[in-house]
Amino acid sequence: MADAKILPLAVVGLGFRVGDINVLDGATFDIAPGSRNIVLGPNGAGKSVMLRLLHGLLTPTSGRVGWSNPDALAVRRAQAMVFQRPVMLRRSARENVEFALHVAGVRNVRNAADLALDRAGLMRLADRPARLCSGGEQQRIALARAWALQPEVLFLDEPTASLDPAATNAIEEAVNAMHRAGTTIIMTTHDLGQARRLADRVLFLNHGRLVEDAPAVSFFAQPTSPDAAAFIRGELLW
Ligand SMILES: Nc1ncnc2c1ncn2[C@@H]1O[C@H](COP(=O)(O)OP(=O)(O)O)[C@@H](O)[C@H]1O
Ligand SMILES: [Mg+2]
Repeated sequence: MADAKILPLAVVGLGFRVGDINVLDGATFDIAPGSRNIVLGPNGAGKSVMLRLLHGLLTPTSGRVGWSNPDALAVRRAQAMVFQRPVMLRRSARENVEFALHVAGVRNVRNAADLALDRAGLMRLADRPARLCSGGEQQRIALARAWALQPEVLFLDEPTASLDPAATNAIEEAVNAMHRAGTTIIMTTHDLGQARRLADRVLFLNHGRLVEDAPAVSFFAQPTSPDAAAFIRGELLW
């Protein structure tokens, strides 16, 4: 893990407005080192937009994403992101990981790539063309690729939304292993079961608003907002 830490993160009044629609409406919260933060909410709530704003893929129209480190390069290098649909280069699984390491400026990419593939239990796939792997395998390769970079913060945007239960379980185990190794997790999901399994803390979004921000135990036992209570009961809010 890089020496220059970028956490804690202070997000203040973060907004993303398109025309007269508030896709994200002034979210304020902190992210502490070592936590598993789940951004939960129904489809269209603004979860992906919020993650992209935090990761720097979108520019906020209001508010700020305040990493504790002022160095833009350190901020970029300390983060990795896994998307809902993995984007694989037309190369082997190992070369996909090696390429990410190369771009990040790592010298001995072969050793680092093999270490990451091994930790993710993917050595048997190392030489296989990544695009010929199953969806679940590709997502695990994407996670190994992120893991190889040893990010301080890992973003995951609904990484299991198109996977079966076994592949979902493998991804959740890998996320927990990265967390145990010291990586801070910020992950979106619309899946209540997954939030219950993984969250230390829940950020509940609905219609672009951060409705609730609570430790997972109290969020599920005693949600304070009617919207969160309805979502937990399984009543979809659109
Ligand atoms: N760049 C954009 N321009 C306009 N509308 C957008 C843009 N990005 C997302 N939206 C809209 O904002 C809402 C939230 O999107 P999104 O963050 O993808 O939701 P979620 O990930 O919670 O399902 C959706 O209604 C979506 O269509
Ligand atoms: Mg989304």
